[in-house]
Amino acid sequence: MSTARFGWRLPRVFAHRCGGALAPENTLAGLRIAARLGITAVEFDVMLSADGSPWLIHDETLERTTNGVGRVGSSSDAQLRALDAGIRRHPAFVGERVPTLAAAAAACRQLGLHANVEIKPAAGCEELTGSVVARQVQQLWAGTAQPLVSSFSEAALQAARAVAPTLTLGCLFERVPTDWRERLRRLGAATLHCDAGLVDDGVIAEARACDIPLLCYTVDDPVLASSLFVRGVAAVFSDRIDLVGDDEAADGRPADHHSGGSRR
Ligand code: G3P
Ligand code: MG
Repeated sequence: MSTARFGWRLPRVFAHRCGGALAPENTLAGLRIAARLGITAVEFDVMLSADGSPWLIHDETLERTTNGVGRVGSSSDAQLRALDAGIRRHPAFVGERVPTLAAAAAACRQLGLHANVEIKPAAGCEELTGSVVARQVQQLWAGTAQPLVSSFSEAALQAARAVAPTLTLGCLFERVPTDWRERLRRLGAATLHCDAGLVDDGVIAEARACDIPLLCYTVDDPVLASSLFVRGVAAVFSDRIDLVGDDEAADGRPADHHSGGSRR
């Protein structure tokens, strides 16, 4: 893949949900840890508040990752701003906040991190989330390399494409459907993302033949990462960025001679 299509070199490893398992997911603390470990790109999930603002959070509800209760989409910006994203699962990070997309963009810029923004719409909010996130991404990353924007929701990606014709989009699947090429073509999407446990060599070969980078989640074992790279997977998302490192930029091409993810 050329950097012209992407704007930046596709690395082999994306930190999943900011800092993987080493920090509360989808937090600025995670971004700082990723940068400290030499990771160059991060993935995070973005959903809208009741005020229509994009925040970094994975679930439609607050309970698993924060000290709040209820739905993200029913919570105001003020309510989300007051939450603790560390206290539930990462006692060392008590007081860590749920970041806005704007705060994450600023941190990525400051830390020199490329981003994969995953649009994670609450059910029924697909189009709105896609268009709001795409518009903000364009504004927040103006004048610098734009993020890769992905989603499981085709409706969200369509809405993103409608407001941001030049945005680089990625289609997320669990198992890749047989008509994936047509789906990517309709959206003008540049990358294909799927579950590492459900990927097969037929899909890998098709993606290679089309020069479409294939990115797999979530890979926490460096041996598995190595075998995926050898098979032709361009990049992986990892929660164990302390184990699965980025030896060299993949540039979207499969690594025929790559010896595997680095062990840190
Ligand atoms: O974008 C890759 C991965 O993040 C998709 O799964 O559920 O962790 O957002 P999930
Ligand atoms: Mg995600």
